[in-house]
Amino acid sequence: MDHFTYRDGVLHAENVPLTAIAEAVGTPVYIYSRATLERHAQVFREALSGLPRKHIAFAIKANPNLAVLKVLARQGFGADVVSGGEIARALAAGMKAEDIVFSGVGKTRAELQYGLDMGIGQFNLELEEEGAVLADLAHAAGKTASAVLRVNPNVDAGTHAKISTGKSENKFGVPISEAKAIFARLSGRPGLNLRGVALHIGSQLFDLGPLEAAYARIGELVRELRGEGHGIDRVDLGGGLGVPYERDKVPPSPADYGRMVERVTQGWDVTLMFEPGRVIVGNAGVLLTRVIWVKPGVTHPYVIVDAAMNDLARPAMYDAWHDFEAVRPSGEKIVAHIAGPVCETGDTFAMNRTIDVVRSGDLGIFRTAGAYGATMASTYNSRPLVPEVMVDGDRFAVVADRIEPASIIAAERVPDFLQD
Ligand code: LLP
Repeated sequence: MDHFTYRDGVLHAENVPLTAIAEAVGTPVYIYSRATLERHAQVFREALSGLPRKHIAFAIKANPNLAVLKVLARQGFGADVVSGGEIARALAAGMKAEDIVFSGVGKTRAELQYGLDMGIGQFNLELEEEGAVLADLAHAAGKTASAVLRVNPNVDAGTHAKISTGKSENKFGVPISEAKAIFARLSGRPGLNLRGVALHIGSQLFDLGPLEAAYARIGELVRELRGEGHGIDRVDLGGGLGVPYERDKVPPSPADYGRMVERVTQGWDVTLMFEPGRVIVGNAGVLLTRVIWVKPGVTHPYVIVDAAMNDLARPAMYDAWHDFEAVRPSGEKIVAHIAGPVCETGDTFAMNRTIDVVRSGDLGIFRTAGAYGATMASTYNSRPLVPEVMVDGDRFAVVADRIEPASIIAAERVPDFLQD
């Protein structure tokens, strides 16, 4: 459920007509609904309420905007981070260092050190050597790093290849078959408290079956590790729950997911860690855009909007679907293509799509743009960096400025050897 609804024929975010935001801030612009974010956080927490010990770490990569993080911090969420920059954001939003999980397949030594200095609650190790380096850095600083080992369970999550992470050929985690040997070599090392295991098999999952299979495998591993004398008190189950990008496609609900987790993890006697991203923020955001032209096409017209692949990369990168709706729909529909102004054929949001009739100057939205939207934006084609707005009841605020090309050009230099 979200708070982007029509009232008197105009699409609103909570109590604010999107026309008012377009007028005040311009387009394209991302719009987040605070009430939707809070509701999703509560629904997810509620779904896990039957579990005795758990910690929810929002996957910041899905939406790192400070205002969004602040809302989730107030809901008691920690953060799953993958870079020093994300650690800085989580801390700036008021999340506690001990509630931060540091994932990422390529953490640099400097980032590991920064994580240690800040007192990060859990490092998710991606390979044995990383564990050895972390132990040495921690030991040298007179600290003990709390860590879990990410395993690759070799299951097919049944999602897009570019966001599938749990198959043996993917770059993530250590093969589950090698986990015991790595545990034997790393545990007991001064500076390291290797206390559990982690997995994350992919994103935008619509089938709980592969997740359940992966969790069952990791449960088996926990029993084996304990059998070898290792103290295991944490299992990180990752994120990945899908969201409906198309109205008629229904993903498993957080409640379904919670019931499955309760069933599979019964008797594990660990703190379960969760790293949801998309399911919390996806439907809490839309991308508002204005139609520049409706250009006649050979089969159907091209609706050329002022948002492009640099603002919302998902359709170009993953052939992702985002529903398009007019802000003031007339009730009439047409079949059209929707594309942005960037000079690439891939800058296309939809082909042969039945949409609300729109004309030059009209406003429209792409739905479900709160996750992996603004954060994946670029300035390609020297376009401005897209701004972000948060709505709260009948007020709204710009929570990230539009960065104009002039500021970006000002950060570039023409070297001396070209100054003649
Ligand atoms: N934990 C780990 C270790 C991850 O790699 C990810 C996502 C998550 C948690 C959060 O997954 P979520 O709950 O959001 O599915 N840019 C792509 C998605 C990339 C996901 C990367 N990892 C997209 O737009 O679909």
